[in-house]
Amino acid sequence: MNVRSDFPFFRQSPPVPVYLDNAATTQKPECVLRAIRDFYETTNANVHRGAHRTSRAATEAHEQARASVASFIGAASPSEIIFTSGTTEGINLVAQTLTYAGTLSAGDEIIVSTDSHHSNIVPWQLLCERTGAVLRVVPLTEDLRFDGEAYGKMLGERTVMVAVPMVSNALGLRLPVEEIIERAHSVGARVLLDAAQAVAHEPLDVQKMGCDFLAFSGHKVFAPTGTGVLWGRAELLDALPPWKGGGEMISSVTFAKTTYNQLPFKYEAGTPHICGNIVLAEALRYVRDLGLPAIRAHEQDLVERLCAGLAGMPEIRILGGAGGRTSLVSVHSPNVHHYDLGMLLDQMNVAVRTGHHCCQPLMQSLGITGTTRYSVALYNTEQDIDVALEATRRALDMLR
Ligand code: ALA
Repeated sequence: MNVRSDFPFFRQSPPVPVYLDNAATTQKPECVLRAIRDFYETTNANVHRGAHRTSRAATEAHEQARASVASFIGAASPSEIIFTSGTTEGINLVAQTLTYAGTLSAGDEIIVSTDSHHSNIVPWQLLCERTGAVLRVVPLTEDLRFDGEAYGKMLGERTVMVAVPMVSNALGLRLPVEEIIERAHSVGARVLLDAAQAVAHEPLDVQKMGCDFLAFSGHKVFAPTGTGVLWGRAELLDALPPWKGGGEMISSVTFAKTTYNQLPFKYEAGTPHICGNIVLAEALRYVRDLGLPAIRAHEQDLVERLCAGLAGMPEIRILGGAGGRTSLVSVHSPNVHHYDLGMLLDQMNVAVRTGHHCCQPLMQSLGITGTTRYSVALYNTEQDIDVALEATRRALDMLR
């Protein structure tokens, strides 16, 4: 896959970082940058309200973007696509509306996995504090996989929601989401998937997967920060109450009583990130044109090369082993602090992420404070991997 020239970031004056922090955020292709400029130069107006033609054009582009997102993830209808500021907001939307719905009883259970990001833990803790529901946590097996046996024992008639990442942002391992969904549904629970680390790396089809809610961030899939999507099945979103009040989410307002708009607008109070949402659709078009199977194959080759090189370094351990991983690899060393390794790699022009990756409970369960994480995207090359491996060897030599 030879797409680096599509990304102006890599055309800046040297030294251009060997960018392996794609799980944190991705660089943006020329077509996305151009779409931002085009929007503000030609179509900038507020949506849904204006009688004038620029507002109509902005509204049309915005709603066309919603339809494109729906098609990208296999949603039944564009009205199931709620534009958000990112995965975090999408999960909070579901957790908070479920809280406001007043349908939870003390003792109802929410299940998450140990390798969840804080954004898939704290919103549910807030819900539990307010409703008396209980948070249950599926442990990991010794090889750091989702423990299906423990999950099976946890599921029961009190389970209301199962919320898991499709791919762990700290370990890079894919969870068996198809099986998780089937088993949750067998006890009548709903399933929310955090697709933040999946959306740029594998085809998503919400209807085929059978999940109930799915959230992702635009900036992890080549769109700007502050964009994202919550998808939910229409009948579920319809049944939940609104969460943010304001313009656009209403049908009529009087001081005595307000009625609410239909989907998706019921959940989109205020002026949306109009340009960002339009550009998100452009980023998804870029990905779709390249083809996720081809992207996945390319990234798989890079990750295998990375793992093979890292596995040969006795000072470090690949968390979760080398096999069966997606687009990122986390390593830990008992003798080298991840922060020192990250700093030295930065000095050698290699950008990785170090720390707990917003997964403090996972780190606690592993008995460590953090990892060094290498994450690839479609524009990375074998040469990037070789430079990163050589820099890691040199850094480990220096820290020994
Ligand atoms: N959630 C992002 C990460 O994993 C920031 O790095």
